[in-house]
Amino acid sequence: MNILGIETSCDETSAAIVTDGREIRANIIASQADLHARYGGVVPEVASRKHVERMLPVLQEALDTAGMTYRDMDAIAVTNRPGLLGALLVGVSTAKALAYAFKIPLIGIHHLEGHIYSNFLAASDLEEHFPLLILIVSGGHTQIVRMDGHSQYTLLGRTRDDAAGEAFDKGARLMGLPYPGGPNVAKLAAQGDASRVAFPRSLLGDSLDFSFSGLKTSIRTFLTKDEGKTAPADVAAGYQEAIVEVLTEKMRRAARQTGIRALCVAGGVAANRRLTELLQQMAATEGLRLVIPAPVLCTDNAAMIAAAGFYRMQTGSPDSLDFDTYATEALGQPTAPVVTPTV
Ligand code: KG4
Ligand code: ZN
Repeated sequence: MNILGIETSCDETSAAIVTDGREIRANIIASQADLHARYGGVVPEVASRKHVERMLPVLQEALDTAGMTYRDMDAIAVTNRPGLLGALLVGVSTAKALAYAFKIPLIGIHHLEGHIYSNFLAASDLEEHFPLLILIVSGGHTQIVRMDGHSQYTLLGRTRDDAAGEAFDKGARLMGLPYPGGPNVAKLAAQGDASRVAFPRSLLGDSLDFSFSGLKTSIRTFLTKDEGKTAPADVAAGYQEAIVEVLTEKMRRAARQTGIRALCVAGGVAANRRLTELLQQMAATEGLRLVIPAPVLCTDNAAMIAAAGFYRMQTGSPDSLDFDTYATEALGQPTAPVVTPTV
C-alpha cells in the first residue's frame, strides 16, 4: 500500500511516499528556515505564501524520486492539526484536490501523531512492543504519552509553560544565536564544557510534568551578570545540559512509575545528539528498549505523516473530504468524524 504524505504545518513544505508503513520511497523536505532567520522566528504569512509556491514542485519531486504517479497512491495522508492555520490550509487544500481528482481516500493526521509514527519507520517491529512510553519534544509541545495501541494515547505529563524546543529557541535568542535556535545551540554546545555553568533543573516532585520558564529567566540573569566573561560554548553546553537532563530524568521516572519497558522519542528536539546520548545511557542502566528516529525523521517531514496514515488505513477508515483544519488540538481527541470516503 502506497501512501502519499503531505506536511505543511509550520515552515517545512514536505511530501513523501511510504510503502506499507515502513519503506520510504521519497521524503522531500523544502525548509524555509533561511527565509525566517532574518525575522528571528517563523512569520506565519510568509510561511503560507512559501508553501503555496513550493507545494506542487515538492509533490512532483517526491513522485519523480519514487518513480510513481498519483495513480499509484492508495491513500493520501495530510497534517490537518495543530499548526499555523494558513500553512496547514495549503497542504490540506492540495490533498483534498488530489483526493477528489484522482479518487484517492484521504486521511487528516494530527501532527504529533505523525511525530510518534516516525518511530514506527525507525523500528518496524514496534507494534509488537505496546504499551510504549513516548517523549514528545517539538517546538510547541513537550509531553510524555502512554500509547497502548494505534490511536490509543494517554497523556501522563506535559509542560506547564514553555516546550523544550521553545526553551532551546528562546535561550538561543538570548545568547544571540540565529534561528532555528535548537540546532544552533547544539552546534555551539558541542565545543563547550557543560560543567562550567550550572543552570537550574526543575523536576516538580513526583509529577511527570515539565517547566522550562525558570531556565529562560535564569540564562537571562546569567548573561546580564556575566557580561561575556564565560565562553559562549560553555554557556550553550550548560544550558543544553539542563534541558536534556530533565527530559531524560522524567522518562526514567515515567518508566519506573508505569513499568513500561519500551521508550520512543518524537519531535524536533529528538534530533539533539546530547539528548540521544543521555537517553541511551539511561535506557541501558534501566534495561529498557529505546527507539530514536534518525534526525531527518525527528524534525518536520511528510514520511512520518504517511506512516501514521498507513496505520490509520489498517485500523480505521479514511475521512470525508470536508474535514476541517485546526490551529490547536490535543492529541487523541478525534475531530473529524470517521466515515467511509465520499469520493
Ligand atoms: O518537530 P519540529 O521540527 O517542529 C514542530 O513541530 O515544532 O521541532 C522544532 C523544534 C525547534 O524548537 C527546534 O529548535 C528544535 O525542534 N530542534 C532542536 C534540534 N533540532 C531541532 N533542538 C535541539 N537540538 C537539535 N539538534
Ligand atoms: Zn513538528
